[in-house]
Amino acid sequence: MLGQPSVFLPEVAAFLDLEGSKSLLRFITCGSVDDGKSTLIGRLLYDGGLILDDQIADLSRESERQGKFDHVDYSLLLDGLEAEREQGITIDVAYRFFSTQRRKFVVADTPGHEEYTRNMVTGASTADLAVILVDGQHGMLPQTCRHTYLASLLGIRHIVLAVNKIDLVDYRATTFEALQTHYRKFVLTLGFETIQAIPVSARNGDNVTSRSVNTPWYHGPSLLEYLETVDVNPRGADRPFRFPIQWVNRPNAGFRGYSGEIASGKVAVGDPITVAKSGQKTAIKSIVTYDGEVEVAEAGQAVTLVLKDEVDASRGNMLTAPSAEPFVADQLQAHVIWFDANPLLPGRSYILRTETDSVNATITKLKYRVNVKSFAREAAKSLTMNEIGVCNISTQSPIAFDAYKDNKTTGNFVIVDRLTNDTVGAGMIDFPLRRAANVHWHAMDITKRARSAQKEQKPAVLWFTGLSGSGKSTIANTLDQILNAHGKHTYILDGDNVRHGLNRDLGFTDADRVENIRRVAEVAKLMTDAGLIVLVSFISPFRDERRMARALMADGEFIEVFVDTPIEECARRDPKGLYVKARAGEIANFTGISSPYEVPEKPELHLSTLERDPMDLALEIEDFLIRRQSKWAP
Ligand code: ADX
Repeated sequence: MLGQPSVFLPEVAAFLDLEGSKSLLRFITCGSVDDGKSTLIGRLLYDGGLILDDQIADLSRESERQGKFDHVDYSLLLDGLEAEREQGITIDVAYRFFSTQRRKFVVADTPGHEEYTRNMVTGASTADLAVILVDGQHGMLPQTCRHTYLASLLGIRHIVLAVNKIDLVDYRATTFEALQTHYRKFVLTLGFETIQAIPVSARNGDNVTSRSVNTPWYHGPSLLEYLETVDVNPRGADRPFRFPIQWVNRPNAGFRGYSGEIASGKVAVGDPITVAKSGQKTAIKSIVTYDGEVEVAEAGQAVTLVLKDEVDASRGNMLTAPSAEPFVADQLQAHVIWFDANPLLPGRSYILRTETDSVNATITKLKYRVNVKSFAREAAKSLTMNEIGVCNISTQSPIAFDAYKDNKTTGNFVIVDRLTNDTVGAGMIDFPLRRAANVHWHAMDITKRARSAQKEQKPAVLWFTGLSGSGKSTIANTLDQILNAHGKHTYILDGDNVRHGLNRDLGFTDADRVENIRRVAEVAKLMTDAGLIVLVSFISPFRDERRMARALMADGEFIEVFVDTPIEECARRDPKGLYVKARAGEIANFTGISSPYEVPEKPELHLSTLERDPMDLALEIEDFLIRRQSKWAP
């Protein structure tokens, strides 16, 4: 998930091989800043004799360099990045691999800063257990709740509540018990299978690798003992076979294989197989690995599968067990964790990436936001950074997936911003949604072409964008009169008017503006189907939605008209007296003042209104239309 951290990275694979048949525990540590996560893991490795001597020498030197002469700073063992050391915080996920006589471990140390939810999600997505650290002096903090909720959302079923700095509360049993009780009540509805609370002092080593004499009232195991023995359910191989195709391997005409990593289950030569998206059925002819052909392979192995019959499958598709096929759908419900500084906006087009697939997608509905302190469902129009919500999502083409609770690998996705290519969110799929049954696209007997031919015009959307008061509506009105006088069939969609009816429920937040434009773009599309020339006059301040509107229309049908008037001039004209109010702070989110306007990059027409009157500008647009129409044959 999230591009990492597969425990199948080469160095990890080598580590796991070395450790042979011992069981593996993957865990994460989380806590607020200064709770002592890194120190705890450092101490675990040090006291457990799990680090090499030269690393210890390095550590003392580094501690001295930072002026920590009185004790060795164990957190330096983990904070690999120089920047972290200098700032004294952990800023990325640090993975450590270690083993004891009884077990091998992969631990992800994740940062405590609120803005680093992304790293916590990365660390937690492959973990079986979470060590949640709380500072015994401070008790549960908002971050404790957030991390616990995220852990449960990401499918972690085992929790260690490490009550740290127990020395600083004089090893008091009552403090420990009160915290433990509070925590257990808090997580009651989250469905954890085990919760083990342990009083520790990471700095002094109490109850880290052995029981401490300072807590005679505590009868449970030390942290290391517990981690060595806790029973987490084995994963992977006993689940239905899932093989997301990474690439089609065709070195020559005689060979065609499907390469990737087995996400879950087992496969053997001769096994029946279904191609998820097409439903085609065939069987495994051979399984090729780096070490030659094998008879069987299982979850975690990178293989190339050769099939008995030729099928239609490429990257993004999945080979699966016919006895338990995944969902294939273009509508789904998911829990989404938002990472980005720009909020999630329903209606906006994003890229949704699963393990190997990538499709355009929109959030069709934000059902609710989850309050991580109370787990309450709150109404919300968007998700801001670090918020979690439940959404309905619609993808441009069907994807193959499982519910996250059944399969973490095939049930997760990330959301990528189309402009910046940044990963802006992560999703855990709940279930597929069916399109409203019996609603099918109705093929019309009278086509768009017939309707346009009857009107003797090429349909078009003239999309006027610009600041309030820039002159969009005036120019659109003038053009409308000219076109009508010349026998054209037109219609005007104007922001102020549409907001009285269809979009009466929308205001001026970013989320509402996105929805405003989505609806009007869909209406404009219907009007082009009717053969009309549509004049759309909306501020439409965001590039993303103008691009979305463009993408809805046929090629060459969308004509972006940038009505370019400097804001000082708009404010001077101020036809509705809105700039005066906005500047006085009486109107929130006013475009150009307290809400952004993103200037078009490549409009078909760029009209400067300062020196020219509306009639002149309208004639320029008509000219453009005439030239375009002359190339048109219905
Ligand atoms: S858009 O941003 O969502 O495209 P739209 O064009 O529908 O806006 O509506 C803009 C009109 O609403 C403006 O011309 C103005 O008359 C009015 N209006 C009221 N409040 C605002 C505001 N906060 N920002 C911009 N326009 C506003």
